[in-house]
Order: sequence, then structure tokens, then C-alpha cells
Amino acid sequence: MRIREFEWPDYDAVVALWTAAGSDVVPRDELVAKLTRDPELFLVAESSAGVAGVVLGTYDGRRGWILRLAVDPAQRRRGIASGLVDELERRLRALGCPRINLMVLPDNESGLRFWQSLGYLPTPDVLHTKPMLAR
Ligand SMILES: CC(C)(COP(=O)(O)OP(=O)(O)OC[C@H]1O[C@@H](n2cnc3c(N)ncnc32)[C@H](O)[C@@H]1OP(=O)(O)O)[C@@H](O)C(=O)NCCC(=O)NCCS
Repeated sequence: MRIREFEWPDYDAVVALWTAAGSDVVPRDELVAKLTRDPELFLVAESSAGVAGVVLGTYDGRRGWILRLAVDPAQRRRGIASGLVDELERRLRALGCPRINLMVLPDNESGLRFWQSLGYLPTPDVLHTKPMLAR
């Protein structure tokens, strides 16, 4: 298993992983904007059969965020997600990031167990969000 930075030819395989995981797909134009900032934080895990896992990291200079982690359902429990997160943490640490946040839906039992196994603990914060519509 090789972990490397996302490249555009990976996009369809990454969309398939997000779709199989029930995640929202990040559209191409949002990824174009993201890749102008910190392309080294968007990682894929590649096996001989192709792209088997993906994670989208961001760093705003104060906090790191982990988003859209997904592994091919046929290749889970083989350490692929742990390997992706380990490499992302290494890269965030190298940028000086002191804390990483992420969001998991409360009914995502495997996701909750996975993050707990890596030392990510729930906080009482409640997520709020607002779309920035054009004015
Ligand atoms: C959550 C997810 C990314 C885990 O990927 P993975 O490659 O199977 O995870 P790993 O093999 O690295 O698992 C590491 C540890 O996490 C825990 N874990 C992972 N999946 C688990 C599950 N279904 N049930 C219980 N514990 C689990 C275990 O402790 C596991 O270690 P072990 O296999 O030695 O027992 C994968 O199930 C997935 O893509 N789910 C759908 C999308 C999602 O929920 N993303 C994360 C939420 S943001």
C-alpha cells in the first residue's frame, strides 16, 4: 500500500470511494481551490488494484481538519485508514499544527470506533454551518 498525494486522474476513483462510504462528493471546482492552498494534505492510499482509500486534510494556520476519510468497503480493517491518518498527522505536525479537529455523525458507529482507536475524543461542541450565498 502506497500513500501519496492526490492527482487529478484519481478523481473518479475517489468519487467512487466517497459514494460507497455515503459521504458527500467534493466537486471538482472546490478541489481546485483547495489544491491551491495545501495540496500536500489531500492523500490517497494506492494498492496494486488502484485507489483504496482517501483523506482530505486542511490547515488554516491554527487548526488542522480531517475530512472525507473513506476506504474501499472490500479493503477495510487492513490498516488503510490508520495509515492515511498517520501520514496526514505527520504532515500537519511538520506544518506546526497543534490540534486536529474532525466531524463524525453520531450514528456512524464504525467511524466513532475508528477515531477513538486513534485517540480522537468527542467534544461537546455543536456543529453550526451557513452556506455563503452570492450577494
Ligand atoms: C471508518 C473507516 C475509514 C475505517 O477504515 P479502515 O481502513 O477499515 O480502518 P483501519 O483498518 O485502519 O482500522 C483501525 C482501527 O479502527 C477501529 N475500527 C475500524 N473500523 C471499525 C469497525 N467497523 N468497528 C469497530 N472498530 C473499527 C479498530 O480498532 C481498527 O483496528 P483493528 O482492525 O486492529 O481492530 C472505514 O470503515 C470507512 O471508510 N467508513 C465509511 C466512511 C467513514 O465512516 N469515515 C470516517 C468518518 S468521518
